[in-house]
Amino acid sequence: MILVTGGAGFIGSNFVLDWRAAHPGEAVLNLDALTYAGNRENLASLAGDAGHVFVHGDITDRALVDRLLAEHQPRAIVHFAAESHVDRSIHGPGAFVKTNIEGTYTLLEAARAHWSALGEAAKAAFRFLHVSTDEVYGSLGPQDAPFTETHPYEPNSPYSASKAASDHLVRAWHHTYGLPVLTTNCSNNYGPFHFPEKLIPLMIVNALAGKPLPVYGDGLQVRDWLYVKDHCSAIRAVLAGGRLGETYNVGGWNEKPNIEIVHTVCALLDELQPRADGQSYRSQITHVKDRPGHDRRYAIDARKVERELGWRPAETFETGIRKTVQWYLHNPQWVQRVQSGAYREWVQTQYAA
Ligand code: NAD
Ligand code: TYD
Repeated sequence: MILVTGGAGFIGSNFVLDWRAAHPGEAVLNLDALTYAGNRENLASLAGDAGHVFVHGDITDRALVDRLLAEHQPRAIVHFAAESHVDRSIHGPGAFVKTNIEGTYTLLEAARAHWSALGEAAKAAFRFLHVSTDEVYGSLGPQDAPFTETHPYEPNSPYSASKAASDHLVRAWHHTYGLPVLTTNCSNNYGPFHFPEKLIPLMIVNALAGKPLPVYGDGLQVRDWLYVKDHCSAIRAVLAGGRLGETYNVGGWNEKPNIEIVHTVCALLDELQPRADGQSYRSQITHVKDRPGHDRRYAIDARKVERELGWRPAETFETGIRKTVQWYLHNPQWVQRVQSGAYREWVQTQYAA
């Protein structure tokens, strides 16, 4: 089996579902602390599947991680668990240091102890795949070439700094101890089960609820969007064939300014679920105060993962965003249930002013 951390979150749950479909013969042990971002409902379709074992626990709990590794003997760890929202990292960076840095350190140490004691064949086959972000590279100017794997690390937010720190730990555990690691640095994901604190799902759920669509600053910040299932297939490709100690940038070749994303979401909603008053959802767009230290542009050069592993995204932005909007329209109960008291408190903290 494989051990997945953070498998009840947005990308982790998509990965677990994807893995069970792609590798029905190999079980998933899913360790997740079920923070505000973790949701077991994302995994509801796996009810009764003996190939999915869920453990409610924290990656900073070394005794728990040791016990899981000893008991289940996974051949790989795919590490998603993290605090992942930049705006939350600005309000409260402590949780990011704790989970993203200390949590990754704990997993690396547990993995090292486990791996060191394995027999030769199991030791050679073992993998620790660390899922990271393009935000570690900092911000690009309008004319700069997209991030390659050798771009210097220049993280600007508490979130990206904590992810950068975790990437460095992973690198060092390979270089110093020989732990068989792989790192992926991916651009912004979107798709089903995306928690509605992030741009795309927030715009969809606010639009449908008749609420303002809050665009930070001028809305001309650029992100490079990848459909989440394409991220999952990239991780599977890197796990299967990635060279040890290497990093792989993963992206969709889809650079878009935020305002264009919001216009696209509005146009799709206008088509699929028009407002009763006949007006466009665009009329709900509101420009609000910019995020402090807001990175202007991210873009990924994904040629290495294509050249070495033959991976390319299956979705274009147009096909992926249509599927995403349709998913939210078809899953109003999921949306309603994730909008708990804690979610409402966050919205109040971030957007009240
Ligand atoms: P998410 O916030 O939706 O989910 C994180 C999951 O980790 C949740 O299920 C949460 O309960 C769990 N978790 C948090 N702290 C934990 C802890 N201490 N112990 C165990 N579980 C814990 O995040 P996501 O968007 O799915 O991102 C997953 C990973 O991918 C992260 O490492 C993130 O940095 C990376 N990433 C995300 C994006 C993106 O666009 N969302 C892009 C590139 C990389
Ligand atoms: P987000 O989804 O938080 O991802 P990240 O900051 O990790 O890239 O934000 C994507 C972009 O959208 C980012 O430039 C910030 C912007 N944004 C808004 O304009 N309004 C919002 O309400 C949110 C959540 C994000």
